Amino acid sequence: MKIGVLTGGGDCPGLNPAIRGVVLQAIHFGWETVGFNEGWRGLIQGLTEPLDIHKVEGLMSKGGTMLGSSRTNPYKEEGGVDKVLKNIREFGLDAVVAMGGEDTLGVANKLYSEHQVNIVGVPKTMDNDLSATDYTFGFDTAVNLAVNALEVLRDTGKSHRRIMVLEVMGRHAGWVALYTAIAGEADWVLLPEDEEVDIDKMLEHLEKVYKRRRTATVVVSEGATIPGAHLKKEELDEFGHMILKRREVGRQVVDIIEKKMKVEARVGVIGHMQRGGPPTIFDRILGVRAGVKAVDLIKEKQFGKMVALKGTEVLGVDIKDAVGKLKTVTKEWSDLALGLFK
Ligand code: F6P
Repeated sequence: MKIGVLTGGGDCPGLNPAIRGVVLQAIHFGWETVGFNEGWRGLIQGLTEPLDIHKVEGLMSKGGTMLGSSRTNPYKEEGGVDKVLKNIREFGLDAVVAMGGEDTLGVANKLYSEHQVNIVGVPKTMDNDLSATDYTFGFDTAVNLAVNALEVLRDTGKSHRRIMVLEVMGRHAGWVALYTAIAGEADWVLLPEDEEVDIDKMLEHLEKVYKRRRTATVVVSEGATIPGAHLKKEELDEFGHMILKRREVGRQVVDIIEKKMKVEARVGVIGHMQRGGPPTIFDRILGVRAGVKAVDLIKEKQFGKMVALKGTEVLGVDIKDAVGKLKTVTKEWSDLALGLFK
């Protein structure tokens, strides 16, 4: 048996442990693994590297993905799908493991349902917005880094009697912002799930907090919509998502706070600094388990499945159940945060 593995979409900590899991479980079954570089681009262009035991040693602690990644969509490239199918045949692949988020797995789902490709998915995203799995690796590390940033900002906030705003990633889902706010004891959080965030409610609460302690912290997700704020046009990627290069939502919130409250405020934008670095133990274990399970699913010929974490179990679910609808922050979760802002 020969299996191909690729990592697509935004990188995140846990991908390297997952690759290690795939390769070591394949070795366990006496199979060969070949890595395709830069996501679906690797399968379109035949960019490969052999993956043996030497390649996966020391990988558990490494952020990013050793295979490289891209947001290439074979369905958007001229002849892209045909090239993928041809390369699967020419490289003699018996199965493909596609590691990615909604977009990468959306392609995997189509290749399975339209072309019967023997494919298994491994979910990853720091946004934790993939349906059909409780958590994705990358998220825990991102939240740990963001909480650390919030606590660092809080020191300056206290010293200078300022309100500190932390802008975190999360284009469509506010899980990183929400967990960071709860775990880091922020005083408010602004999420992309709200059609338009309630700025007056935030200001009213911050006034109360500021009177009490002469400082406060706010976490804002990069995808939050601030009423009245001027939005610059952003580019779209091959999957139709906005590329939020400017990351200016945090600054918009600072401007409003300074104008309305007459209090000094500052913003910290951590951007990609929350998406790299050594994975937390949670992400290492989830990653390596997901990689091993993906190979087990191939052995059982359970194609069209994605590895999912349900409670403490890793199991196979239909890829189609994971794509199409993002898992966004529920009212129950945002109410929990609201209840903690006192
Ligand atoms: O999809 C994960 C994510 O980190 C989003 O939170 C963020 O908006 C986006 O990727 C950034 O993408 P890029 O690395 O292409 O700028």
